[in-house]
Order: sequence, then structure tokens, then C-alpha cells
Amino acid sequence: MKVAVIGANGQLGTDIIQEFTHAGDDVSGINHCDVEIYDIDSVYNILKLIKPDLLINTAAYHNVEKCEQNALRAYQVNSMGARNLAIACKEEDIYLIHISTDYVFDGNQKIPYLETDLAMPLNVYGNTKLSGEHYIKSIADKYLVLRTSGLYGKSPCRAKGGLNFVQLMLKLAKERDEIRVVDDEVLTPTNTVELARQIVKLKHPDVYGIAHATAECMCSWYQFAREIFEITGTKINLQVANQDEFPSKVNRPDFSVLENSLLKQYNLNTFKNWEEGLKEYLIES
Ligand SMILES: NC(=O)c1ccc[n+]([C@@H]2O[C@H](COP(=O)([O-])OP(=O)(O)OC[C@H]3O[C@@H](n4cnc5c(N)ncnc54)[C@H](OP(=O)(O)O)[C@@H]3O)[C@@H](O)[C@H]2O)c1
Repeated sequence: MKVAVIGANGQLGTDIIQEFTHAGDDVSGINHCDVEIYDIDSVYNILKLIKPDLLINTAAYHNVEKCEQNALRAYQVNSMGARNLAIACKEEDIYLIHISTDYVFDGNQKIPYLETDLAMPLNVYGNTKLSGEHYIKSIADKYLVLRTSGLYGKSPCRAKGGLNFVQLMLKLAKERDEIRVVDDEVLTPTNTVELARQIVKLKHPDVYGIAHATAECMCSWYQFAREIFEITGTKINLQVANQDEFPSKVNRPDFSVLENSLLKQYNLNTFKNWEEGLKEYLIES
């Protein structure tokens, strides 16, 4: 199968390229220097050149703070970019897999969100990603929008820069006697290798639409940190941070756990518990 991946050098894109290559597919990586998804002519040009059967879009403007400061850019990339890909894929008869986010939800629900639950984003990032989903849903014929959560992988997240949460905790543990982490934000950390493998499994879909795609179960950031230290045998004084200790300028959902109900309904879900994904990441890195 001929597969093209936008955001090829990104955190998730790198693993998608690797997993599709292992699966024996003909994979083309597309970087930002090759395409600007906000520019529809640029999108047409690259798709006409590569002529993929499947296009996977990981590109986004997704630094949450920067999205608040530059809402226009967030809309251009996350909404219009998704629209442009949907239009071009429909015209060229290409199956589109697009990555979206748990931040489309407001977090007021205390049980995992289903694909059918009402999305009510709290910030510009979530709003522009939701708008991108709507464009794809209303334009594309053959598409899967995969909402995921708390990604960490071997390659750095280009939009956020620096270390991922696992690397940061291990670095801080070397530098400090005590680490303080919030316990009031609950999510499902997801290893990008696991998500990439899930996407390979979806290359011949039985279903189109919006699907949740995260590791199984849930934890707070504090519980995530505790597990990192437990698996690595790191001795550190880990404490729950006070609610006002790390004030954020941007509203975020307190609870953004997703249930992979569509994938399970079609017997396609390949995710394990988040602790298993973390162990695999720590062994391989
Ligand atoms: N990271 C998370 O925790 C998380 C959680 C939930 C959902 N997601 C979603 O997962 C996806 C992948 O995240 P990631 O962590 O792999 O991101 P990443 O490391 O920042 O990679 C994004 C890639 O897209 C490229 N790109 C950005 N804007 C572009 C544009 N306008 N046109 C073409 N290419 C562009 C980037 O290139 P340059 O860097 O050169 O601009 C980079 O290669 C995103 O859609 C994000 O919304 C992420």
C-alpha cells in the first residue's frame, strides 16, 4: 500500500513511518518544508506527486499556550489545514487518517468519553481541532479521525520542544531531592509506538468516522510520575503539588479520558494499559 505521512519528523510521525515500513508498505514522509497544509495548492501539489492510497496527517499547531496567543494561526493549521486535506483527498480518492485530541472535551464528565459524547472545548487549541474534525466529517468520504491523548515518544514533540514528561521526570529526579506533581488532571498517557501500530491495523478500515485511540485506563500526572519512578527503580521524594502551585494561563480539561469504543466495537482495538506502554517505552529508550 502507498502511504504518505504529513509531519514525518514529528513525535508521532517518526513512529508511524517506522511501523508502516516494518509492515512492508511503501511509505513517503512529508515534512513542513515539503507542504504547508494551510495552502491548498501546496497540498494538491504534494498529493499529485506522491499519489498515496492512504494519507496520514499528524501536523498541527498544538502548543496550547501559543494557540491562545495566535488563534488565527491555530485556525489556519488545525481547521483550514484539515479542510484542505479533506478536499484534496476526496478529489484524489485518498483515504485520510487525521489525528485529533482529547482536548475537544471540557472534562466535566467523570467517566471516559465516548465518540458520541458532546465535544465542548475549553481553549483555542481544542476549538480549532474540533473545527478541523467537522470539516473532515462534512467533506471527506473515506476518513478516520483518531482522537488521542498525552503522547510521549522517542522523538521530541516539535511543537512543544524539550523533553517529554517521562524524560523530564527522570531528569528532575537526578537534579532534585523532591519532585511535586499535580494530581487533579486525569488523562491516559499514550506511547506513540502503540498509536502507530494501531494506525497500521487501520490501514484497511472496516469503518470510517471519528474514533478514540488512546492507551487503556487512566491516571493523574502524579500517578504517571509515580509509575515512571517505580518501573525505573528511581528513589525520589515524590509529592502531590498544591492546586495553585503551577498556575496555567490556559483552561484545560481536568478529566480527558477517552474510551476506544468504536475500535472495540469493530474488534480493532490494539491498545494495552498505559502502564504496559510506559514499560515498553522505558525498555526501548
Ligand atoms: N503531543 C500530545 O501530547 C498530543 C496529544 C493529543 C493529540 N495530539 C495530536 O497529535 C498530533 C501529532 O503530535 P506530535 O506530538 O507528533 O507533534 P509534533 O512533534 O509537533 O509534529 C508535528 C509535525 O507537523 C509538522 N507541521 C506543523 N505545522 C504544519 C503545517 N502547517 N503544515 C505542514 N506540516 C506542519 C511539524 O513540522 P515543523 O515542526 O517543522 O513545523 C512536525 O513535523 C497532532 O495533531 C496533535 O494535535 C498530540
